[in-house]
Order: sequence, then C-alpha cells, then structure tokens
Amino acid sequence: MLVSALPSLLLLLLLSFTVRTWTSRPARVYLSYKELMESRTARFFSFGFNTSDYRILFLDQDQDRMYVGSRDYLVSMDLGNINREPLIIHWPAAPSRQKECLMAGRGRADECANYLRVIQPLNRTHLYACGTGAYQPQCTLIYRGWRSEDYVFRIISGSHESGKGRCPYDPKQENMATIIDGVLYAGVQVDYMGTDSAVFRTMGHKLPIRTEQYDSRWLNDPVFVGSLVVSESSFKEDDKLYILFRERSLEGESGPAMVSRIARICLNDEGGMRSLVGKWTSFLKARLVCSVIGPDGVETSFDQLRDIFIQQTQDKQNPLIYGVFTTLGSVFRGSAVCVFSLADVRAVFNGPFAHKEGHGYQMTAYTGKTPYPRPGACAGGFSVTGIHSSKLFGEDVLRFVRTHPLMYTSVYPLNRRPLLLLSDASYTYTSIAVDTVPAADGEYTVLFLGTDRGTVQKVMILPKGPEETEGITLEEVEVFKVSAPHPPTSPYFLLLNVTGVGFHLN
Ligand SMILES: *[C@@H]1O[C@H](CO)[C@@H](O)[C@H](O)[C@H]1NC(C)=O
Ligand SMILES: *[C@@H]1O[C@H](CO)[C@@H](O)[C@H](O)[C@H]1NC(C)=O
Ligand SMILES: *[C@@H]1O[C@H](CO)[C@@H](O)[C@H](O)[C@H]1NC(C)=O
Repeated sequence: MLVSALPSLLLLLLLSFTVRTWTSRPARVYLSYKELMESRTARFFSFGFNTSDYRILFLDQDQDRMYVGSRDYLVSMDLGNINREPLIIHWPAAPSRQKECLMAGRGRADECANYLRVIQPLNRTHLYACGTGAYQPQCTLIYRGWRSEDYVFRIISGSHESGKGRCPYDPKQENMATIIDGVLYAGVQVDYMGTDSAVFRTMGHKLPIRTEQYDSRWLNDPVFVGSLVVSESSFKEDDKLYILFRERSLEGESGPAMVSRIARICLNDEGGMRSLVGKWTSFLKARLVCSVIGPDGVETSFDQLRDIFIQQTQDKQNPLIYGVFTTLGSVFRGSAVCVFSLADVRAVFNGPFAHKEGHGYQMTAYTGKTPYPRPGACAGGFSVTGIHSSKLFGEDVLRFVRTHPLMYTSVYPLNRRPLLLLSDASYTYTSIAVDTVPAADGEYTVLFLGTDRGTVQKVMILPKGPEETEGITLEEVEVFKVSAPHPPTSPYFLLLNVTGVGFHLN
C-alpha cells in the first residue's frame, strides 16, 4: 500500500493572509485546497505514520519550533523556516507491552500504541515528553540543544519513567499538562479504567498533590481543555494556575447536564497537615457561561468548552480568555466564541461559595461564617502573610475547602454575550487563535477558527454600536487534501505565516 494513499495525512500549512482595507465590507473569499496550494503560501506536509491522530502539543517560542505529537512519533518543526525538513523521533511502546495491551482486550480501536500527549520544556536544553505507552503511560527526556540553530531533537536514553498522573492511559481521553519551575501540573485520568480524574502535581522536589479522589464535588467526569499561569499580586506566593475544562454538572446545580468550568490552585500549595494530606487546599472552581438570549427571551447556552486562546493585555494580571463553545443537544447545532476577563473570573472566586444542605437539596449561596484564611487564598500571599504554608491552615479551613470547591455565581463573558455566534450551520467551530491588527482608527481583533469541516476561517470583529460587535468572515480556507469528514478527535492544524498578518501562535 502506498503510504501517501493512507487516509492519515497531516497537513501543515503556511498561509500568508493579505491585509485588505476594512473600510468597505470585503467579499468573502473561499479558498479550496487546490487554490490554496496554487497561491503558493502554504506547504503541504505528509508523514507516513499511518494514523490521523496529530496534535500540536507545544509552541516553543524560545527556539522557534512547534512540536507535534502523533501515534508513536514526535515531530519538531522549524517555525522560522517551514521549508526545513522536520526532525522526527520514533518512540513506540515496547513490543512486550503492546502484546499485553492486546491481550487485555484493548487495541480494538488501535489503542495499543504510544500516543504522544505531552511535551513541555524542562529547562534551556531539555524537553519532557509523555505518551500513553499502550495503556501504560511513559515519559522521557528529550534533548533539543542550546539554540535553535543546533536543530537537534533526540531522546535521552535511559531517561524513561512512569507517566502515571502525567499522561492518560486511553488515547481518547483529553488531557492538560504544563511544567512550571520544573514541576508538572496535569489534568488527567490517573488510572487504567479512566474513572479517577485529577489535577495532579508531580516531579521536582515537591511532594505529589492532587484533587480529592472520587469526589464528584471536585471533579465530575472532566474533559480538560487548557490552562494558564497568572501572577496575581506582587507576592510570588500568590501565583496561580487556572485550569479550563468541561464536566458533568453537579447534583443540586441548576442548569444543563454538562457545564464548562474554570478552576484554580495556588502553585505553592503543599496540601493539608491532618486532613487533605497530599491534596490541594486551594482548589476552587466556577462555571463559565456562554449563552444568548433570543428575541423571545429564551436563553440558548453553549455548554461545551472546546478550545481556548489566552490573549495577554497591557495588564499582566488580567489576560483575556477566548473560548470556543458548542451546544450539547442535537436539536440545535451551534457554536459561539465568548471572551472572559480574568478580573471577572477573580470576582467570582472572591464571591459566595456554593452550598448544599444535603442530598436532594438545591445549591444555594453559602451565608454562614467563612473561615480564615479565606479558602482559595494562597499561604504567604498578599492576604495571608502570616501563614507560610498550607500545612498550617486550620482544620476549619480544610473542612470548608473539601466540601465547598464550587463558587455560587458563574463567570459571564464580556458584555454578557458571545463575541461571535454560529447558528443554523452544518458545521461547528472546534479551535481558536486570536490576533490584533493595527488600523488607522485603532486595533481590530481577528479570529482564526478551525471548523469540523476541515477549514479555517479568518473572522474580523468590527464594532457595531456600543458594546456590540459584528464578525465578518473574510476568508475560509480548506486545509486538507481530502475533504472527507474528519473525526472530531483529530484536530485540524494550521500553521500561519507569522510575518504575514502578524499572527502569533502563543
Ligand atoms: C510569509 O509572509 C511574508 C510577508 O508577507 C512573505 O514575504 C513570505 O514569502 C511568506 N512566506 C511564505 C512561505 O509564504
Ligand atoms: C496501519 O495501522 C493499522 C491499525 O493499527 C494496521 O492494521 C495496518 O497494518 C497499518 N498499516 C501499515 C501500512 O502499517
Ligand atoms: C536540564 O535538565 C536535564 C535533566 O534534569 C539535565 O541533565 C540538564 O543538565 C539540564 N540542563 C540545564 C541547562 O540546566
């Protein structure tokens, strides 16, 4: 069989979008794959990896590289020169492990392989990578050289270790992972059966810390989407990790069956002393709402967070979070882009906690006495200078944290409405990147949206009165050679010409 004939080709495209004048409404341009290639602004990549499972795992700003994970392969691509041949690491699961996996009855859906799901810089010269390892997650060190000119990418032999709590077992499960100061934070299913989901911290000198096990109040079948680190005050102790995911809603919580969430933890959390030992003492979460009120007053909510993009602003403490959301039901198919300000997120975490009197009760706002330090505050931080470790938190604090991880109010997007709405379409948005374009009268926001029909749309956001905006789809580009419907699990990749419109992949 010809490798190129396999329905498993990865496409990475380099596009240079031309800047048009925005004064008049530009005509919408649709570029077919063929036209795109003829425009000579894209490069087609095809790897004979015999899989359609490809994902961008990390954009390496230091060395101007992009790392792509696949089944048994890791690819390093040069963002500075797309014509340079990528560097490839072949890292399959051990044959004995594959055999065990097949015998355990997995493998029906091609799962007994090493699906690469994590790659993060550890320090200047080394990367840390993890894969599913045929249902036995494994991690390894990778050497990437000192400078981008070195152009190296190889596994450090003998550095393999278990990836439990760092990488999922099941390639179908979505995960989140980030290394901060040599410590890995992962949103992951920790066990073989996929029933124990956690936000897990491992590696480095610190002891492992995780979310409470099998407690649906903390996590309820989560699907992790992404994360961001924020310095919240002039105190380093206040540094927090925000984690975005969707999960089943809790008993007693009003609203839909599935909800989108933002959770946060203090990076310096050391767990409790007598209770919550080895567990986060700072874990809190809130609901993210992305909805529209129709002319008839009926609210349509987009409850499935699919992808995020973090946009830094002048104010380092207040980045914007762009989220792509889709609807849950099959009745109405739609997607929306909502933008959240971290200031609004913070206000919700400073607000009332959700409280449930007991089984069968509705959630209400907690009105009793809140212990000190306020749950969610970081030890040694701005508001808790006197207590230097979470191990010194009182039992009343820990008891409260354990039973009240959810905030009562939800986080609403800027202007309380989506920035962009897609309804009555035969496709949905699946991924997002955001750029701002300078113009004569200020800056415009440009969204690049991946769709589940294998295209990327470039949408310009224009003001349309106070607090109202309008999205104009300037271009839509087919980025796959074969425009057959692609499985939703295989995201669409597009690498844009960084120098063109000033599109930053970060
Ligand atoms: C990227 O864009 C720049 C500026 O528009 C252009 O000069 C360059 O040729 C483009 N590169 C590719 C590979 O299209
Ligand atoms: C591609 O993968 C499938 C499923 O694992 C396997 O059955 C097939 O033999 C592979 N084909 C090639 C050419 O390796
Ligand atoms: C990076 O980490 C690796 C593994 O711990 C170590 O061997 C290497 O010396 C470190 N490099 C630098 C520049 O610190």
